[in-house]
Amino acid sequence: MATMRAVRLHVPTRTLRVEEVERPVPGPGQVLVKVEAAGVCLSDVHLIDGSLTPLYLPGESVTLGHEIAGTVAELGPEAGRRQVGDRVVLQAGEQRDGITWTRGVDYDGGWAEYALARTDTLFTLPDAIPFEQGAIIPDAVSTPWGAVTATGAVRPAEPVGVWGVGGLGAHGVQLLRVIGANPIVAVDPSPAARERALAFGADLALDSADPELAAKIGAATGGTGLAAAFDFAGVPAVREQAMTVLGAHGRLVLVGLTDQPLTVANSIRFSYLQQQILGHYGSEDTAVPELISLAAGGRLDFSRSISGVLPLEQAAEAVERLHTKQGDPIRLILKP
Ligand SMILES: NC(=O)c1ccc[n+]([C@@H]2O[C@H](COP(=O)([O-])OP(=O)(O)OC[C@H]3O[C@@H](n4cnc5c(N)ncnc54)[C@H](O)[C@@H]3O)[C@@H](O)[C@H]2O)c1
Repeated sequence: MATMRAVRLHVPTRTLRVEEVERPVPGPGQVLVKVEAAGVCLSDVHLIDGSLTPLYLPGESVTLGHEIAGTVAELGPEAGRRQVGDRVVLQAGEQRDGITWTRGVDYDGGWAEYALARTDTLFTLPDAIPFEQGAIIPDAVSTPWGAVTATGAVRPAEPVGVWGVGGLGAHGVQLLRVIGANPIVAVDPSPAARERALAFGADLALDSADPELAAKIGAATGGTGLAAAFDFAGVPAVREQAMTVLGAHGRLVLVGLTDQPLTVANSIRFSYLQQQILGHYGSEDTAVPELISLAAGGRLDFSRSISGVLPLEQAAEAVERLHTKQGDPIRLILKP
């Protein structure tokens, strides 16, 4: 039996361990991918700290990692046009009986030497895009892309706000710039995150603790307030703050995940201004290929997004660094 190293989370005890496990064999319509790079997301931190629990995981343990790029190592029967050696990016989830299962949450992910993937969840990664940058497209880039273009449906020249300029939010700012939102206001308590917001294309970057925040956003939007506000932080206070600076027909899009309740402090204002609160999860299947094409076409550049590359054995350290913001990471990558 061939084996491989994998970073496994035992869900009942939330214990994370590097284990030697059986190397999977691809079944019909599947390939085995040699993992070259796997991103570390705050959702992984949430899975480990217990604030996020897999919905569909059949067993008690799972290999984490939903942002993966690699090369096809082995073909199962009926693997279609795929060939050994293809450079690929893996979709962060797949449909099973009409339900979206999330990779590295509901089934084994890519914090491992190898990962199984259904061929319909693979996209070719052009040679010009390094594996580390390709790996973060599913989720760190595709989730804000879905939030901005589909759920938030931002149109050119709309004033927008981005709360949380970490892995998702930094790309949210970049994507809003590409689609022509104006102005783009970023809000984050971290000075480093505010600096990168400006570098990634925000027009204004504010501290969430700034007592003048509402007045500053009012001035930046000519008094209209924001057309769309994005929670890319998963912090309850963000939602309440964003609601106060949302304009008429404004949409608050909840991307960040928290197990805390949501409160609309002024519900008369909310109804009077016909505002909306929209939940967002993942992205449409078209997001990853669209983003690969935008990156290959020079419209997007993820070279600033990779803050460090660590071996699998240091997965716990990578998680800790993201959790504590040590070194102000955008995305950390595990490389088996
Ligand atoms: N809905 C989805 O499909 C989906 C997918 C992936 C991740 N997520 C969630 O999105 C959130 C962000 O993930 P990430 O990997 O980008 O995290 P991250 O840790 O890289 O970034 C979070 C940012 O939020 C900032 N922040 C903290 N408190 C804030 C406040 N009060 N106001 C504004 N900013 C604040 C932090 O300083 C940090 O810069 C997490 O909750 C994660 O679980 C959701």
